[in-house]
Amino acid sequence: MILRSSISTACCRPVTRLPRKNLSLYSPSTKPFFVTTPIFYVNASPHIGHLHSLVLTDVLARFAKLRSPQRKVIFTTGTDEHGLKIQQAAKAQGVEEGEFCARVSQRFRDLADRANVGYTDFIRTAEPRHYRAVEHFWNRLVESGDVYKGTHSGWYSISDECFYSEKQIRQDESGKIVAIETGNEVVWEEEENWKFRLPRYRERLLSWADRPESIHPLSMKSFVTSQMASVEDLSISRPRSRVRWGVPVPGDPNQTIYVWVDALINYLTVLGYPASADGWPVDVHVVGKDIIKFHAVHWPALLMSAGLEPPRQVLSHAHWTMGKFKMSKSRGNVVDPIAAMDKYGPEPIRWYLMREGGSLPDDSDFNLDQLNANYSVLAQQFGNLLNRVTSPKIVQKMGSITSHHPLPDFDAALSSARDRVEGFMSNHQITKACEVILNLIADANKLVTDMRPWEANNDATIPVLYAYQALRISGILAQPFMPVKSSEMLDRLAVDPTQRTWNDATWTGRSGFDALALKEQLSRSLPGSLFPRLNP
Ligand code: ME8
Ligand code: MG
Repeated sequence: MILRSSISTACCRPVTRLPRKNLSLYSPSTKPFFVTTPIFYVNASPHIGHLHSLVLTDVLARFAKLRSPQRKVIFTTGTDEHGLKIQQAAKAQGVEEGEFCARVSQRFRDLADRANVGYTDFIRTAEPRHYRAVEHFWNRLVESGDVYKGTHSGWYSISDECFYSEKQIRQDESGKIVAIETGNEVVWEEEENWKFRLPRYRERLLSWADRPESIHPLSMKSFVTSQMASVEDLSISRPRSRVRWGVPVPGDPNQTIYVWVDALINYLTVLGYPASADGWPVDVHVVGKDIIKFHAVHWPALLMSAGLEPPRQVLSHAHWTMGKFKMSKSRGNVVDPIAAMDKYGPEPIRWYLMREGGSLPDDSDFNLDQLNANYSVLAQQFGNLLNRVTSPKIVQKMGSITSHHPLPDFDAALSSARDRVEGFMSNHQITKACEVILNLIADANKLVTDMRPWEANNDATIPVLYAYQALRISGILAQPFMPVKSSEMLDRLAVDPTQRTWNDATWTGRSGFDALALKEQLSRSLPGSLFPRLNP
């Protein structure tokens, strides 16, 4: 017989204090839940950083579906194919732009598919539907009286595809003039182009930014509001002689629409704009912190000018670095996400990105030891517990629950896991949500270890019951993070596919629980290895 004191140690982990709940994000609504990733430049192949944005957005979309199955989810991603940077990349490879873009865009789509990213639409800015949306949107800006033709001079960064003012540049060690914010080289340009009266929207932008949900994390708000305070008229076109590869300005074929204005409008194109904007405003624009200014300053102002609501929320995540430098296509210090998924499988990579990076405000350094350690935890915790509760040797020892059985102090952890995950997800504390799921499994493993159900004289009923519940509940809650692995796990446990919903992710306690039925269910469990040993 096990002493109660020895089993309760498994479960004495202090429950992390719950954050304030933001109920509106995932609560049932007739408006579709609309989330987006940035659309990525096709100047080079995708790296782990792009996969991170894709997975994070997928987790939000899948969580919304789990939380409110009736609510329609719109989840869009795609590629940004215009502008000087792409024009030059195509030229460097000696390929015509259209062909170059189609080829690289496909790599981003393959990446999303390989990683089980369940986007509902993949947009390419070279598509005709996008040209129609951009032209219509441009005309709305003109009608609002916010557009005029002027001369613009400033420092242009091709890598960042934007102008910087005198105050935003410096000379670097090698004598090059670079943007202070990104370190990318700039060149002086003086040209005629169309401009947008951005300062007209300063007050409205500041009050939008002041809503608690508009900018996440809140620590980004001061950066954004400082940018708002100093806005100047924005150049929104470039001479066609310089940038040929883009959408021509309606009525002025000598000018090409600025690639950032073109790109941002993708978020409307995917809704069928201008014919329809059903689903607008977007619930969450997921972006890297490098492009928050475009999404939280320029874009809301452009939307206001075009008579549309600003985004509900812009969620910026930090960067993956490699040797502490931002992973970037231009620098070349990148991790190939396809090779990583070939080695570890797509879902352990998803888990690693979310568990260690999530939507944290600080950069994470990509590190193979840490990735291996995360894989081992998955194998040792999920894999091991699953093997234990499906072991015929243990399962055949189960009997019925009697009042003699000691009562482990585990019910509260099981019954509160779902709400704790929701609390963290509602505040985009992704790494914390992963932790709740993992802790449930780790505590159940500890319980089984302490109760030693494999020994002849020890009870198997109680440890198997609790371990099963921990696996079942965490399997349901892990679906947004590891959709395939969690269904594999629930399949192996013979959990009915219709009983994997939000409502099922609860535990009402063991009273009335039919242990013999569970014994029968587990005797039907399937063999297999959830997280197999890796090839060295
Ligand atoms: O900026 N870590 O495209 P882009 C984490 N086309 N995320 C990273 C990352 C890293 N090291 N590197 C890139 C553009 N990302 C524009 C966007 S949207 C209307 C237009 C992710 O190919 C992150 O989301 O440079 C970042 O914001 C985005 O990729 C930039 O991708
Ligand atoms: Mg970039």
